[in-house]
Amino acid sequence: MNLKNLLREIEDFPEEGILFKDITPILKDEDGFNEVIERFLDEFAELEFDYIAAIEARGFLLGPVLSREFACGFIPIRKSGKLPADKVSVTYELEYGESELEMHTDSLEAGDKVLLIDDLLATGGTSLAAIELIEKLEAEVIAAGYLIELTDLPGRSNLQDYNIFSIMKE
Ligand code: PRP
Repeated sequence: MNLKNLLREIEDFPEEGILFKDITPILKDEDGFNEVIERFLDEFAELEFDYIAAIEARGFLLGPVLSREFACGFIPIRKSGKLPADKVSVTYELEYGESELEMHTDSLEAGDKVLLIDDLLATGGTSLAAIELIEKLEAEVIAAGYLIELTDLPGRSNLQDYNIFSIMKE
């Protein structure tokens, strides 16, 4: 199964000059989606962790499926203003402007081990913000997994202190 054949590239989306990596054809293909889940399962089979956390929105397409497979709970990390209960927040820089991620304060307890999942690693800014949230609650990110890693951007070097895995390098 060559997942690259199922990855669709869209020019100038969401802005001019951006080549958008569209994973929806992978998700639509039963074998393709299954391959993605199996690759994560193989990679993290020996890892010990308490929860999977994933980042809104596209991380939610993968994280809950994996938490079901690994028989662990799932924790959503959301864009600001979506979570109803007490929460921790981290503001982070985007290419243009800034954004904010939030997590419920009672999502994690000190010492919990977390596997972080998202669809894409680009600059790593989003993941670093998610990690900061998890660490604010004194929990530990023991690995981060991505479907796609953009290798001409500094995501991996920005996350050099962490155990990073990606299925596809683009
Ligand atoms: C995309 C992607 C990652 C992030 C990666 O999310 O799903 O979360 O960008 O970029 P970075 O490594 O440079 O931080 P986006 O903010 O587009 O949100 P979405 O999933 O809601 O579309």
